[in-house]
Amino acid sequence: MKLELADEAATIALANAVYRALPANRAGWTLLLCGELGAGKSTFARAFIRAAGHEGPVPSPTYTLVEPYALASGFIYHIDLYRVSSEDELYFLGFDELDEGCCLVEWPERAPGLLATADLKIELSFESTGRSARIIAISERGSALIQKIN
Ligand SMILES: Nc1ncnc2c1ncn2[C@@H]1O[C@H](COP(=O)(O)OP(=O)(O)OP(=O)(O)O)[C@@H](O)[C@H]1O
Ligand SMILES: [Mg+2]
Repeated sequence: MKLELADEAATIALANAVYRALPANRAGWTLLLCGELGAGKSTFARAFIRAAGHEGPVPSPTYTLVEPYALASGFIYHIDLYRVSSEDELYFLGFDELDEGCCLVEWPERAPGLLATADLKIELSFESTGRSARIIAISERGSALIQKIN
């Protein structure tokens, strides 16, 4: 599925639509956010986290690697692997313990192992003044989710 995102508002609208398409229990769902520097990955993540009911700031996890959000609607983990150079560095993150929440992962290319367990990949690209998004299902439930995005 490919979409044109003419401006930032369109990226936010896509994040809202993906959020709405997910089941109420998002535990264990993993969404990968791909794209060059500035493609809009954090914009998407911020909008998604706000759609889930978070009202405060959404700081970049570039240095902390993971920012957890304990929300009434469940946990969301915002992850940014930009500074990770090898998958070995991820052990201390306790990725196994993230199952209880929904994971949004920027720069998932740094941890190719994630690809196998993720549900959806959202690839953001530069397109003149805006962006485009390709939404790719990884899991079967991810494929069902794409049908529900509107
Ligand atoms: N569809 C869009 N059209 C035009 N600009 C957009 C669009 N979506 C987001 N932007 C803008 O792109 C800029 C960079 O966005 P953002 O920080 O989300 O990128 P990023 O992919 O997270 O970058 P990084 O890899 O550095 O973390 C922001 O100023 C944002 O407003
Ligand atoms: Mg970012």
